[in-house]
Amino acid sequence: MAGVLGNLQGKTAVITGGASGIGLAMAQRFGAEGMNVVIADVEQGALDAASDLLNDAGIACAAMRCDVSDRHAVEALADFSYEEFGAVHILCNNAGVVHRDLTWEASIESWEWVLGVDLWGPIYGVHSFVPRMLASGEPGHVVNTASTAGILAFPSIASYDVAKQGVVALSEALLADAMAANVPLRASVLCPGVVRTKIGFSERNRPGGVKGEAFGTQGLTTATEAIDPEDVADQVLEAINNGTFWIMTHPRYVELVKERAEGMLTGGIPPIPRPI
Ligand SMILES: NC(=O)c1ccc[n+]([C@@H]2O[C@H](COP(=O)([O-])OP(=O)(O)OC[C@H]3O[C@@H](n4cnc5c(N)ncnc54)[C@H](O)[C@@H]3O)[C@@H](O)[C@H]2O)c1
Repeated sequence: MAGVLGNLQGKTAVITGGASGIGLAMAQRFGAEGMNVVIADVEQGALDAASDLLNDAGIACAAMRCDVSDRHAVEALADFSYEEFGAVHILCNNAGVVHRDLTWEASIESWEWVLGVDLWGPIYGVHSFVPRMLASGEPGHVVNTASTAGILAFPSIASYDVAKQGVVALSEALLADAMAANVPLRASVLCPGVVRTKIGFSERNRPGGVKGEAFGTQGLTTATEAIDPEDVADQVLEAINNGTFWIMTHPRYVELVKERAEGMLTGGIPPIPRPI
């Protein structure tokens, strides 16, 4: 399927979690294509630094502090984006956090925090932006950041697995509805493996401070399969241009997905991916 956006020059992208990691890399990549970018993030200091970085690179950038787990904040982000640039063509629901705990030991507060940011964030994003994107009559593309945890359940991060599998379903439903309604909107779901970012220190953004064991760096920065956020951003741009739905940055997980599907058909247990 071909992408719907065509030339990106002068078009506008909104990226949540845009102050660091994959979000910032996407902002830089889109900016290099001549796009305007709106970055939104809950971490004010990182947001300011990212905004300076993008502006210094000559990218038309607007930044807004936004907690994506707050529906009113996401609505305000949509207002802000349209006021700044008059249109939105790419929406990246990318902000995310992870919390490590055994499934039965995670507190309800931990579940609510992770589901609030990782699942409700993208739901609010779709709800606040997509009707306006469609009303403009211009083509649009939504990229939701899930994870390999969106297609396989990793041990010790059940809330993250649940949220990200929800993000995959949200993305599939969004594309299906857009196709059925014959509107110029496409969707992609980003399912990265390990990427060198600060995701391991998500609790830095947890309201009220650290409430549990920090996820730590285990497996994240040292894993031999870890890739850089810039590589992910390149793949996202390619997917938008080609209208690709699944963005699977680490092909080895595809084999586990096949194994999982096989288990559904034959009555086996799901594969247990290596803990990250
Ligand atoms: N790094 C990986 O290995 C990896 C793998 C799979 C998926 N992901 C996903 O990629 C996305 C980006 O994460 P990253 O790896 O770049 O990590 P990161 O921590 O560098 O970036 C995440 C950003 O989200 C922001 N954020 C956190 N809570 C927020 C909130 N309530 N509202 C708004 N912004 C908030 C953070 O301040 C941060 O800037 C996340 O959705 C994450 O789950 C990352």
